[in-house]
Amino acid sequence: MANSITIEGLHAGYGAVRVIEDVSIRAAPAETVVLLGTNGNGKSTIMKCVMGLVRPSAGRIIASIDGVRHDLTRLTTEQIVDLGIALVPEGRRLFPKLTVEENLLLGAYRRSARAQMSRNLESCFETFPRLAERRRQLAGSMSGGEQQMLALGRALMLAPRILLVDEPSVGLAPLLVARTIDAIKELKARYQLTVLMAEQNFTQAVRIADRGYVIVHGKIAVEGRSAEELNNNELIRKFYLGL
Ligand SMILES: Nc1ncnc2c1ncn2[C@@H]1O[C@H](COP(=O)(O)OP(=O)(O)OP(=O)(O)O)[C@@H](O)[C@H]1O
Ligand SMILES: [Mg+2]
Repeated sequence: MANSITIEGLHAGYGAVRVIEDVSIRAAPAETVVLLGTNGNGKSTIMKCVMGLVRPSAGRIIASIDGVRHDLTRLTTEQIVDLGIALVPEGRRLFPKLTVEENLLLGAYRRSARAQMSRNLESCFETFPRLAERRRQLAGSMSGGEQQMLALGRALMLAPRILLVDEPSVGLAPLLVARTIDAIKELKARYQLTVLMAEQNFTQAVRIADRGYVIVHGKIAVEGRSAEELNNNELIRKFYLGL
């Protein structure tokens, strides 16, 4: 399955504030590409541009789904989701007063996903048995790690082809960060997803990265063509990891 995403010469901002400058990123079929960078450098803005939530002032975002190219900058968020592109947003954005199962079912809000709702729910429970055990529990009373699984599960209800995950490790203890990263790895293999993930936790992100980019002040400061290249980059070690 050839699902890829190519961002070319992206410029974006909020009103007069320019945030993203000339960013080009590619995630090839079945690749996991990470966007590294500390707070406020523009990772989420790039993801929002992909989802049509922020409109770029210049540049192209091309998604290739089963070999068909779509320019996402011309589509609405609904159309982008219908193509099979899903975002697990920063901070998870669950409905805390609804149950686990209700949160999952709300994930299938698009008409295209509704038809396969029960099948997707089943496969979601298979991937995350803990969610099945807790299906009647209120989402807000789940632990941080469980809530991140639920956020991932909710995105799976859209049966995505390309999955965007925005800082899954935020607010999680180290062990849970590792588990979340493992879960993303498993999802990727199971659903043959192309993954674009923003993450500040360098060590964990590099565990699943095929490639990656470091975003500094809205520009690509470093491009690592393999996890090894990211790991061994002097600039990253000095400025990003403080080593
Ligand atoms: N809705 C908005 N209106 C105005 N400025 C915004 C808005 N959203 C983000 N920004 C600004 O854009 C810049 C990049 O923010 P962004 O959220 O993309 O960074 P980030 O790399 O995801 O950071 P973090 O790691 O903290 O999530 C920041 O300076 C931020 O203040
Ligand atoms: Mg962010």
